[in-house]
Amino acid sequence: MSAVVTVARTGLAPATAWGEPRDERRGDAHHAGPASTSAAPLLELRKVNSFYGPVQAHFDVDLQVRSGQIVSLLGGNASGKSTTMKVVLGLLRPRSGDVLFDGQSTLGLPTPQVIRRGIGSVPEARRLFPAMTVRENLLMGAYARNDSREVARDLERMLELFPRVAERIGFQAGTLSGGEQQMVAMARALMGRPRLLCMDEPTMGLSPLYVDKVLELIAQINRQGISVFMVEQNASLALQIAQHGYVLQTGRVVLSGPARQLLDDARIRDAYLGGDGAASTAS
Ligand SMILES: Nc1ncnc2c1ncn2[C@@H]1O[C@H](COP(=O)(O)OP(=O)(O)OP(=O)(O)O)[C@@H](O)[C@H]1O
Ligand SMILES: [Mg+2]
Repeated sequence: MSAVVTVARTGLAPATAWGEPRDERRGDAHHAGPASTSAAPLLELRKVNSFYGPVQAHFDVDLQVRSGQIVSLLGGNASGKSTTMKVVLGLLRPRSGDVLFDGQSTLGLPTPQVIRRGIGSVPEARRLFPAMTVRENLLMGAYARNDSREVARDLERMLELFPRVAERIGFQAGTLSGGEQQMVAMARALMGRPRLLCMDEPTMGLSPLYVDKVLELIAQINRQGISVFMVEQNASLALQIAQHGYVLQTGRVVLSGPARQLLDDARIRDAYLGGDGAASTAS
C-alpha cells in the first residue's frame, strides 16, 4: 500500500489509522485517484441558501468533495467562500438546502459534533491560542479524543511532519511567524484525526517560501488519504494541487470542473491569474 511508503518518509500515520473507522469503499476511492467518481461524496452541499439576517450570502449552492480529493473554492472578495466553510462546520445554518458529510446530514449539529464526525478546520487567520504554547495548541486539537496514548503518538507524528513546529514546541504560539503559525494550525486540525480538512486561505499573508511549503504539505497530507476542501486566493497554485475547483461569485457557483480544465479556462485566467501571461508562467 503506497501509504506505508509515505509513512516511512513523513512519520504521518497511514490513512486507515486516522479518524473514524474507514470503510473499504472510501479507501479505494482515494487510491483509485480522482478518476474514480462512483463513490458517494464525502462532503456535499445541496441547494444551500445562507443568510446573514436579511442579506443572502449563498444562492442554491451545490458542491461536492469526493473522498481523497483536494477541492479548491475560488472567488473574489465577499463572494461567500468563508461563509461556505461556516456552513460546512455548522457555524452558520443555511435557511434551506442540505449539508451532508459521509452521506448524513449535518444540519443543526453543533460544531463540536460536526468536528467529531471527522471534519478538521484550519480557520482563516489561523486562530491559535496566542498565549498558549505550541504544544498546548496542538493538544487542543485532540480535545474530543480520550485515547491519550494515541494522542501522544499523533503529537510525535506531527512533529516529524512539521519539523519547524517541533523546534517551536515550547514557545507561546503568538510569538511565531505567520508561516509557523499556519503549520501549527494545520497540525492542530490533524490532531483531531479528520477525514476532511477544511482550510480558509491557508497561504494568506505568508512569504513565497511558506506559500510553497504550505501547499506542498497540503498535498502531502492529502496523499495520506485525508480529503481537503480549501478556500484559496492563489488560484493558480490552488488549482495545481487540486483535482477539482469551484468558483463562487456573489454567492453563486458560476463555474466548476476538473482543476486542470479550470486552469485553462479563459474566464479563470482573466479573473484570477492575471490573463494569459500569468497563467502560462505560473508554477
Ligand atoms: N458576520 C456577518 N454578518 C453579516 N454579513 C456577513 C458576515 N460575514 C460575511 N457577511 C457577508 O456575506 C458575504 C460573503 O462573505 P464571505 O466572508 O463568505 O466572503 P469571502 O468570499 O470569504 O470573502 P473574502 O475573500 O473577503 O474572504 C459578504 O457580502 C459579506 O459582507
Ligand atoms: Mg473569506
